[in-house]
Amino acid sequence: MTNDGSAQTLLILGASGDLTARLLLPGLGALLAAGDAPPLTLLGAGTEDWDADRWHQRVSDAFGDHREAGPAAKTLENTRYRSADVTRPEDLRRLLEDVDGTLSIFFALPPAVTAKACEALLDVDLPKGTRLVLEKPFGTGSASAAALNRLLTRLTPEEKIHRIDHFLGKSTVLNILGLRFANRIFEPLLNSEHVAGVDLVFDEDLALEGRAGYYDKAGALADMIQSHLLQILALLTMEAPQSLDAGVFRDGTAEALRATRLWGGDPKQSSLRARYTAGKLGDRQLPDYVDEDGVDPARETETLAELVLAVDTWRWAGVPFRLRSGKAVANSRKEAVITFKEPQRLPDGLSGPDGPNRLRIGFGPDRLELDFTINGPGDPFVLDPITLRADFGPGDLPPYGEVLRGVFDDEPLLSVRGDVAEQCWRIVEPVTKAWHDGEVPIVEYPAGSDGPENSHLDV
Ligand code: BG6
Repeated sequence: MTNDGSAQTLLILGASGDLTARLLLPGLGALLAAGDAPPLTLLGAGTEDWDADRWHQRVSDAFGDHREAGPAAKTLENTRYRSADVTRPEDLRRLLEDVDGTLSIFFALPPAVTAKACEALLDVDLPKGTRLVLEKPFGTGSASAAALNRLLTRLTPEEKIHRIDHFLGKSTVLNILGLRFANRIFEPLLNSEHVAGVDLVFDEDLALEGRAGYYDKAGALADMIQSHLLQILALLTMEAPQSLDAGVFRDGTAEALRATRLWGGDPKQSSLRARYTAGKLGDRQLPDYVDEDGVDPARETETLAELVLAVDTWRWAGVPFRLRSGKAVANSRKEAVITFKEPQRLPDGLSGPDGPNRLRIGFGPDRLELDFTINGPGDPFVLDPITLRADFGPGDLPPYGEVLRGVFDDEPLLSVRGDVAEQCWRIVEPVTKAWHDGEVPIVEYPAGSDGPENSHLDV
């Protein structure tokens, strides 16, 4: 534990919402149970008119098996909830009356409400050292992200602002650092001389799951690619940082993202948007996306998005990075696949399948695979493919536990820096504009299929 052990308060705005129940509180429960958090007062605020029992039940359910572990039990015992309109300064002032020790405010709210709540905080005396913790999407475009950044730094310094991307708390994602920079055998090959292309795929066998209120306004591009997958891309493409000091490390990821742009510059060639139609996903029969509750078909929200990107650095120039994420896809593939160029030539006399080497970093199942071509079995002059596999060990904490640890420790390493959040919008904006202008028609794929035809993916 690197926090000094003195009392802290976590105030969740949007405490009655889905994100708080599904991810934030379970992560917090695990962190508390691991003894890795300071003595913590947990305050919830939401629009629902909940009584103490209802909130207590919500936290207890979300803590699950951790609810009885010492520090988690203590937090659970003292937690409080107030119904509030968090866009009103007077309501926010009332919430701050219960704060004990250093305050972290978690905005588990849609971006527009977060921005309003931040504006309201300008009229509130925030305790010194207050941390602001924001969920993605951070703003709705580069201009709104820049405006939100300006607003936030009027409230508290940048190092106290934690823009959460829970993929940066996934141990498998962080394994990219160890894999690349703690081994001699991969890093020298990770450049345009040896790599033919990279596919970064996060397809899910989840559909809308009752999240229309958020998802139908976000879509796959903002929900997954603009945020999570670009963070993974940065880890895959950054230069070796001198240390994991937050400043040094985040300079490295920022530099990689600043060099990233749409491959060829034409959204018609380098992007794809699609949405699922009715189909069978596992044992569930899903309706057309547009017939799901709460969906407005006029928005033309995509449930699957693809982008081809270029990372225009000396190391990566000429290597296409194909990013894709989709909902309701049969094969829930979650991996980064680095495809190497073929050997210059095969010796005469060797024959058989001689596909390229591929390094696969799996984000669930969490595993590493390396595809090789070798001789045999059988005829030693006939080639065959084999795969070396290793499982990544699970992390001690779930991703939200990991990122919350950074918040309580004042360690911004796993938080997205303000300029990086703006870069991530800058990268996708030519595409969102072209989609909005109808230049790239939306295509369809049946729920439970492998996704649309004409995918850019290579593997
Ligand atoms: C969230 C997205 O940020 O990440 C979801 O809003 C997505 O749509 C989820 O399903 C995937 O993350 P995880 O950790 O559940 O694999």
